This record gives sequence, C-alpha cells and structure tokens, in this order.
Amino acid sequence: MALLNSLRDCFSGRLLSESTEMAPFLTDWRHKWRGNAFAVAQPYTTNDVVKIVRWCIDNGFSIVPQGGNTGMSGAATPDQQGTTVVLSLARMNRVRVIDPINNTMTVEAGCILQTLQELAKDSDRLFPLSLSAEGSCMIGGNLATNAGGVGVLRYGNARDLCLGLEVVTADGEIWDGLRGLRKDNSGYDLRDLFIGSEGTLGIITAATLKLFPLPKATLCAWAAIGTVENATELLQLAQSHAGAKLTAFELLSQDCVDLLREQMPSSRWPLSQASDWYVLIEVSDNVDEANAASTLESLLETAFEQALVTDAAIATNLSQTRDFWALRENMGEAQAKAGKNIKHDISVPISKFAAFIRETNAKVTNAFSEARMIVFGHLGDGNLHYNISPKTSERGESFSEIEPAVNRIVHDAVIACAGSISAEHGLGVLRAAEARRYKSDVEMKLQRAIKQALDPRGMMNPGKGIVG
Ligand code: FAD
Ligand code: MLT
Ligand code: ZN
Repeated sequence: MALLNSLRDCFSGRLLSESTEMAPFLTDWRHKWRGNAFAVAQPYTTNDVVKIVRWCIDNGFSIVPQGGNTGMSGAATPDQQGTTVVLSLARMNRVRVIDPINNTMTVEAGCILQTLQELAKDSDRLFPLSLSAEGSCMIGGNLATNAGGVGVLRYGNARDLCLGLEVVTADGEIWDGLRGLRKDNSGYDLRDLFIGSEGTLGIITAATLKLFPLPKATLCAWAAIGTVENATELLQLAQSHAGAKLTAFELLSQDCVDLLREQMPSSRWPLSQASDWYVLIEVSDNVDEANAASTLESLLETAFEQALVTDAAIATNLSQTRDFWALRENMGEAQAKAGKNIKHDISVPISKFAAFIRETNAKVTNAFSEARMIVFGHLGDGNLHYNISPKTSERGESFSEIEPAVNRIVHDAVIACAGSISAEHGLGVLRAAEARRYKSDVEMKLQRAIKQALDPRGMMNPGKGIVG
C-alpha cells in the first residue's frame, strides 16, 4: 500500500489500482492476451511521465506504454508477473501548435487519430494517416507501431508523416526533438529509432506531424477483377493514369465478401457480378468533384477496354462513399466476429503478389483442407492481411492447433519473396520470436545494441519486439 501511495503521490495524473478499473488496460481488444499490472498510471503532462519513469527505476518496475489499445500484436498488454506499471497516455491529449504555413501540427501522444484528422480539416489541411481503428487509436500508438493503413501508397506510413518527437527516455529524461523540419542531417536519426519501436525504447509524449493540402474532392469505386495479376496491372494503370491523385488501392477476395455478408448481413455490396477478386480505388482531386469523377471514369473505361475489370461501381455521394469504404474497413471486425482465425500481416514486392498468393494458397489449402483463405489488404503499398479462418465455425477451437504449421508455410513463402512478416502491425508478442528466426546474426547484433544503449535496464515494455 505504501508503495502504491508513493506512486500516486509522485505525479499529478490518475492512478488506477482496483482490478475492475484496471481490467480494460490488461487485455487487448480481441482478448487474445491478458496480463497483470501493479497499477495503471494516466499522466497529464510530460513531467508526470518523467516522474513515473523515475519511480519505476527506483522501485524496480517495468513500464508498458499504452495508447488506444487497438494494436494487433499484443504489444500493449503487460505480462503476467504484475511487476509492471501500464502507462496510459489517454489524458495527454492537448494540441500544442498548428502551423498552417509550415504545414505541421504539434500534438500530444494521447490525441485520437480521428480528432487530429478533423483538426487538420478545420485548418483546410489533410492529415492523411487513415485506418479503421482511427476513432480509438492514438497518435503515440500510431507512431510507436509505425502504423500504415489505407493512404500509404500516396502519403507514406506514420514514420513518413512525422517530423519530430518529444520522448521521455528510459532514464527518465526528456528528449525534445519536436522539430518541424523537412531537412535535418545533424546526427543519427533518433526520431526514427523511437518510431516503430513499440514502446520498447522510450515513451513518446508529443509529435510534430506533417500536414498536406486538403483535397477538394475524394471519390471511390469498387471494381471486379478476375485475377490478382489483373489487379496489379490495374494498379499500374491507375498510377500512370491518376498519378498523385490515386490515394488508395485496396484488395478483397470473394471469400472476404462472403464472410463480411455472413457476419454483417446489412453490408450493401454494390456490384452485381461475382468475381474472385475486387479492388477499391480512391482518387482525390485538388480542383473539384467533376475532375475526380472524370479521372475515375476514364481510368475504369480504359480498364474495361483492356479487359482488366469485369464490373465496376462509382460512389456518387458521401453516404455511398462511406458504405463503399465500410465494406473494406469492416473486414477485420467481421473476421474477429467469425471467431478463431490466423492472421498474417505481410508485405512482398508488388511484382511478386500474384505468384505469392497463388502458390501459398495452394500450399495452405493442400495441407489444411479446413482453411478458408481470407486475403485482403493494401495492395497499393504491397501489404496484405493474409488471414485464414476455419471453413465452419465448429472447427474454431481445434483450429488454433494448426497455427504454427500455417505460419511456417506463410512466413517461409514471404521470406522467399524478400518480404516482411510484419508490415504494419508490429511484432509485439505475436511475431517477436518469428521475426528473430528470420533475421541475420548481424542484424540481431545491431538491434540488441540499440536496445542496450537506450534501455539498459530492460524496463521498457519487456518481452515485446525484436529484442524481447
Ligand atoms: P496501442 O495498441 O495502445 O499500443 C501499440 C504499441 O505502441 C504498444 O507496443 C504500446 O506499448 C506502444 N505505445 C502506445 N503508445 C505509446 C507511446 N505514447 N509511446 C511509446 N509507445 C507507445 N494498423 C495499421 O497499421 N493499419 C491498419 O490498417 C490497421 N487497421 C486496424 C483496424 C482495426 C479494426 C483495428 C482494431 C486495428 C487496426 N490496426 C491497424 C492496428 C492498430 O490500430 C494500430 O497498430 C495503431 O497504430 C495502434 O495505436 P494505439 O494507440 O491503439 O496503440
Ligand atoms: C486492416 O487493414 O483492416 C487491418 O490492418 C487488418 C486486420 O484487421 O487484419
Ligand atoms: Zn491493414
């Protein structure tokens, strides 16, 4: 009790220690992982964070930083030991500065992504990071995972959208790197070390983010495609046709559409013809909607002429645009509702996509007849959610037993294509050992050296990420 009180008294924010109030912070949104903690601390300021880190150093506790807790890899869930303080950034949600001339905004780590998108819009700017969890994930978590989402092909991932960081280090010091510069070669890039480090090197407390001109119009279309080869050809056509106006290019299989309809029967599918594959294409235009429509229409016209698409529907108003996007964005949730599944967040060179899917689908379904391939994702940037569900829900329980063997087939195939086994979801605990398996000794030596230099006590998010 005395220890708890000393933590409570050392900073000005909230401290949760009752098991019922801590419960939501001790499991992930899918309830795949569960842990214990000494307490959950919710600081208000960067100085509070410093005090909590120093308290943890003095008392031998480790720290698990947590944002919106929407992560996919168990990285924000503490381990079972109960010797951890979960440090929730939720109350550090102030906007420090918006600088429309520099096209930047400086915000605290606990700001919800969607709030930042809206804030940018109010200043006639675009903050383009966009993912289905945007209503609950936080910018600190987005940067700590180097989140991707649907706009990466045009604007890049979270790393590309961040110019500067403020971090509380594992020594309890503040590194003020909140620079709004697009050019800065004055030393090793500390910002890039913290981005994507999944809370294992320090705590991100604020960030300076890039803003872009707000497009005047954004339109999207669903197109039916016979093969993945056709989808990658269509991507090339769209890139040459629309250039920088192409802002999303997402892939979905017919199996995904079936699963979506089973789990979310109110989903409105806009195409009349069934096909093996579908793509969602989005174009954004800086002139007006008529311009956006003409880009999309002429792209699809050429695609029909070249026999790349067999059917297409363009959203004609905002509510249809939302419905079109919902079909893609609800995929993760629909699969979670369907029960047990095996997820893979992989990237391969786009040129190898079609062969990868064909060959790996065959290997998985030959080995496991109960596998239902739920393949969807961000084809435009080379990232697929190569997921597998059981064919019938009765198989759900025993399905987990095949996971290690399925992972081996999929990840070996990814590495054979010079791909990555974690494209945007991070390693957390889900993929940590698997990533180590495929890294060279040299790479592991460098990774450990970074961890040792920045977190010599090993107190930041132990057991997570590449060094673990
Ligand atoms: P959390 O889950 O709370 O934490 C994630 C990791 O970051 C943990 O390691 C945690 O310790 C660390 N962390 C959090 N905050 C900080 C901080 N301030 N300082 C240091 N470390 C910190 N991800 C994508 O990339 N693309 C997608 O398209 C996508 N789609 C999704 C769809 C759905 C429906 C859901 C539920 C999730 C999706 N995700 C996606 C995964 C998830 O939303 C992202 O990983 C997101 O960036 C996590 O943010 P968060 O605030 O929830 O972080
Ligand atoms: C998505 O792109 O929808 C998520 O990153 C993937 C998922 O839910 O598997
Ligand atoms: Zn994704």
